[in-house]
This record gives sequence, C-alpha cells and structure tokens, in this order.
Amino acid sequence: MPSLLPFFRWCDETFVAVAVRKSVIAFPTIETFHLLALTLLFGSIAIQNLRLFGLLLKEQPISRVEKIFAPWTYGALVVMLSSGLLLFLSEAMKCYGSDPFWIKMGFLFLALVFHFTIYRKVVRSQDFRPALLKARLAATVSFALWISVGLAGRAIAFL
Ligand code: HEM
Repeated sequence: MPSLLPFFRWCDETFVAVAVRKSVIAFPTIETFHLLALTLLFGSIAIQNLRLFGLLLKEQPISRVEKIFAPWTYGALVVMLSSGLLLFLSEAMKCYGSDPFWIKMGFLFLALVFHFTIYRKVVRSQDFRPALLKARLAATVSFALWISVGLAGRAIAFL
C-alpha cells in the first residue's frame, strides 16, 4: 500500500497550516468552534435517539422530531468537518503519528455511513412507533459511534 506520509507532509506545509501555526489565537479559536459545534451535533442527535428509545417527545412521530432537529445536526456537521480540517492541516504530521487520530477517522467514517443510511431510514419512518427493537438498536449504535468519535478526538491531545 502506498504511504500517505507525502500527503500528510504536503498538508502540514500548506499556506493555511502555516498560517494557523503562526497565529497564537487561530488554533484555540478554531477548536472552540469545533467544540461548540460538537455540543449541537451531540445535542440534536441525542434528542432524536432519546425519541427512538421512547424516552422523550413520545407524542410526536419520530419523522417529525427528525424534521425539526436534523437541520441542526447537518449544520453542526458542516462546522465540525470544516473546523476539523483546519485543525488537522495545522498539525498534520502530529496526526499522522497519532493512533487516536486514525481511530477517530475510522469511527467518523462509520458514524457518517451509518447516519446517512440505516439511521436516517429509521428516523424518517412514517410510523408513529417504528418497530421498537429496530428503533432502540439504531439509537444505541448511533450513540456508540458518535461517542467513540468524540473520545478518540479528545485522546489525540494525550496519546
Ligand atoms: C463530527 C465529527 C467530529 C467530532 C465529534 C470531533 C470531536 C473532537 C474532539 C472531542 C476533540 C478534542 C478537543 C479537545 O482536545 O479539547 C477534537 C479535536 C480535534 N479534531 Fe475533531 N471531531 C470531529 C471531526 C473532525 C475532523 C473531520 C477532523 C479532521 C479532518 C478533526 C480533527 C481534529 C483535530 C486535529 C483535533 C485537535 C487534536 C489535538 O491536538 O488535541 N475532527 N475533535
């Protein structure tokens, strides 16, 4: 398999990467937006998952809860992915050697694929009560994947 090292080295030397590293406030400012968006992402997904568990907004159809909260999820995702890219560029060589970074990217890939396929199908179901087991299973997998992304992201700073 060809090494990704030259690509990471190129990322580390881009104009944006150098500019973020040179600035004292750029990294913490971008990371603040990364984490603010994280609260919106987790919050909006948690509300949908708790509805799938039947613990919240029980009188509302799941598809309606999705309609209200999904735009917040997507908006937060756009901010997370773009701010994450900027953080990554500024420390691409550190990320290359960081196990938690690779674990995070793996979980992020799985979380996005799951969210935009199976999960979306379940929450967009028109049934007032989609098969309880299916709904709970989708919520459990969703929680597990997004929490894993968050934990691995936090671990980048330590490992
Ligand atoms: C929805 C997806 C994401 C979640 C839930 C997430 C979560 C997190 C968390 C919890 C942190 C730790 C912040 C801290 O240490 O205080 C973090 C930092 C970071 N994230 Fe993300 N992130 C996401 C997307 C991305 C993407 C797409 C990238 C890169 C392409 C990325 C790159 C980074 C980098 C480089 C850091 C800083 C690590 C460090 O040096 O401490 N993130 N992220």
